[in-house]
Amino acid sequence: MTYSNQFFEALGVDHRVKSEVKSLALRTGIPLSRLNFYNHKNVVPSGFDLTKVTEIFGVSEVQLRLKMGRLDRALIELIQNSSDQVLRAINSSAPDERLVSNLKEVFETPLGKLYEADCLKVLRSIESDSVDLVFADPPFNLDKLYPSNMDDNIREEEYLKWMEEWLKECVRVLKHGGALFTWNLPVWNSSITNFLHGSLTFKHWVGVDIKYSLPIQGRLYPSHYSLLYFVKGEKANKLVADRLPTPTCPSCYGDIKDYGGYKHKMNPLGISLTDIWTDIPPVRHAKYKKRVGSNELSIKLLDRIIEMSTNEGDLVFDPFGGSGTTYVVSELKGRRWIGCEIGPCEDIVQRFENISDDQEHLERIRAKLNHLFVPAIARERELRGLWTAQSVSKKNE
Ligand SMILES: C[S@@+](CC[C@H](N)C(=O)[O-])C[C@H]1O[C@@H](n2cnc3c(N)ncnc32)[C@H](O)[C@@H]1O
Repeated sequence: MTYSNQFFEALGVDHRVKSEVKSLALRTGIPLSRLNFYNHKNVVPSGFDLTKVTEIFGVSEVQLRLKMGRLDRALIELIQNSSDQVLRAINSSAPDERLVSNLKEVFETPLGKLYEADCLKVLRSIESDSVDLVFADPPFNLDKLYPSNMDDNIREEEYLKWMEEWLKECVRVLKHGGALFTWNLPVWNSSITNFLHGSLTFKHWVGVDIKYSLPIQGRLYPSHYSLLYFVKGEKANKLVADRLPTPTCPSCYGDIKDYGGYKHKMNPLGISLTDIWTDIPPVRHAKYKKRVGSNELSIKLLDRIIEMSTNEGDLVFDPFGGSGTTYVVSELKGRRWIGCEIGPCEDIVQRFENISDDQEHLERIRAKLNHLFVPAIARERELRGLWTAQSVSKKNE
């Protein structure tokens, strides 16, 4: 994934003419590979490289930043101070993107509606300040093949521009106190945080421990997805997380963590949820997969997010349907929902036809929450004379 030659263009160098690029390297003394890196990744040079570029081409760092669209705070302040002139210079004849087009509704339940449509079109049909939770799991721009045959390998700047476009609409439709969660690779979520900080209040960057690629030399083993969590306004309308059981040894039921003399202080409902989630399974097993291909999220993840940030009857919106995990979990938990998927929706509709499978799965997941030890494990521990929430609280009476 690359940017579109903004660095070379800022210097008046045509990237298609090899001799021009080579001569840039000769004139500046900057290695060709580094110049190409600045150009491909749209990185503003720093240190001696910046000095050479500014001296030789007579461009200032501000000019470079403006032309490359890499605004730092100092530049933003300059623009703020000259906002009237900047506004006059901006062409105000942009087309009205807000027109609501006809939407193809493919499925409906008493709680939700599913559209086979582009999320931007659906978003434009949703009333401002009406949604309690937006959960978004967009394509990662990794050149994956989706059933919709969409292009999942566009230029970095196009991808980020598109992300901001739908995120802006999500912010508009969110209620004050409503929550926005975006699931993505750390590289993309880190790129949108600055934009989101401008409209919402940051709550958490949750690291969800799932390995998604092989270890590759020269980089750390990527082992977490990022789940960004923002709210609209100062305070979340709801932020009450389920409590988790403390882990125990699967064969002997003994402690994995030593709580020493603090056992009696443990909450019998379990331990607090942290911002590192290690218990979310990847959906790889055919038994749980609801459509061919990758990228289906676990209902455990959606249950946690929906439980934490909404109440029954609240409205949930997910712009990227996929196999419909968000919609099914919302339905099972009594939340209203709006869904859309640009590609075929049959897998989602079929999933709803067999919703009892997901219901059983969800019940099994929920039965393990809000106990310090899951009941079956507590019984095994009692049999082995190991402490339980009850035994330590009795001792304390
Ligand atoms: C990563 S998957 C979502 C998976 C989903 N969270 C699940 O658990 O099954 C992203 C989905 O978004 C869909 N998509 C991509 N661009 C879209 C758009 N502009 N509007 C609506 N859906 C889109 C893709 O076809 C793909 O199915």
